[in-house]
Amino acid sequence: MKKIGILTSGGDAPGMNAAIRAVVRSGISAGLEVYGVFNGYEGLVNDNIRKLDRGDVSDIIIQGGTILGSARLEEFKLVEVREKAVANLAKHGIEGLVVIGGDGSYRGALALTEMGINCIGIPGTIDNDIDSTDYTIGFDTALNTVIENVDKLRDTSSSHHRCSVVEVMGNRCGDLAIYAGITTGAEVIVTKETGYDEAEVLERLNYFEQVKGKRHAILIISEKITDVHLLAQKISQHTGFSGRATILGHIQRGGSPTARDRILATQFGDKAVQALMSGEGGRCVGIVSEKVMTIDITEALRTPKKSRKPLFELHDRLV
Ligand code: F6P
Repeated sequence: MKKIGILTSGGDAPGMNAAIRAVVRSGISAGLEVYGVFNGYEGLVNDNIRKLDRGDVSDIIIQGGTILGSARLEEFKLVEVREKAVANLAKHGIEGLVVIGGDGSYRGALALTEMGINCIGIPGTIDNDIDSTDYTIGFDTALNTVIENVDKLRDTSSSHHRCSVVEVMGNRCGDLAIYAGITTGAEVIVTKETGYDEAEVLERLNYFEQVKGKRHAILIISEKITDVHLLAQKISQHTGFSGRATILGHIQRGGSPTARDRILATQFGDKAVQALMSGEGGRCVGIVSEKVMTIDITEALRTPKKSRKPLFELHDRLV
């Protein structure tokens, strides 16, 4: 293998740039030419591909976002669309591809491998919803962003005898909510795993206010569960707290990556290059119990959802 490509796909995540840098520099050190594909799978289909040199990735380890741009391309499911991508790769002589993204991006990588282009996936998403790896690139930075903001909300909630309802991202995964809930000392955490029962949430808040005498409360809830502004109104109506809702939104996707994300991304990028060089394809990189490894994408996509029950129990003991 002489030439490899790299693309970022799906929602961006802090640390993607650090992974791009690692792929480019590890690849060049191993004697490969490395090509950047711009705007995810769209760039493959539209031939938006350019050779990257060491200097092209200077200083990007500290930057959030992705210098390659990212996109979600539903049509990549269609074989005729993927055929264009394969033809463009062949035109450049690119035989292997590193795909940084979430599970949707992995499916594209698997399909391309089946069409003769060896692909290695790198888990890059703030959601931490790829169960074959303990951590995805971007999760730690997003978590720290949530912590920083919830800490600020706690200051003002405490001055005004309020309950702050904070909606965090995660798509269908509750990891940002549970990790943020524990690390900010939130009173209530609601995720898909806990389920949502409005009456129970209100009762719990009343317990904290009336029995425990709390002056304020933080409720962290995963997105796509309920309307948090309506919930805040209900809190004002049915508990001793006044409720206010904050949707953290895309702020969680930005920012300079934490040390942890930079290291993880660097290890993943380097591992992906090694995997391509040893002829692997249709596999993805992950970290399990501190060990960086690769596994089949099919197996990764089949890995059962991790239960966070022990973390919820820990939270319950401390709140
Ligand atoms: O997958 C990352 C993520 O930020 C999810 O947490 C969120 O549900 C989604 O992407 C938002 O997507 P978009 O940026 O397309 O609005």
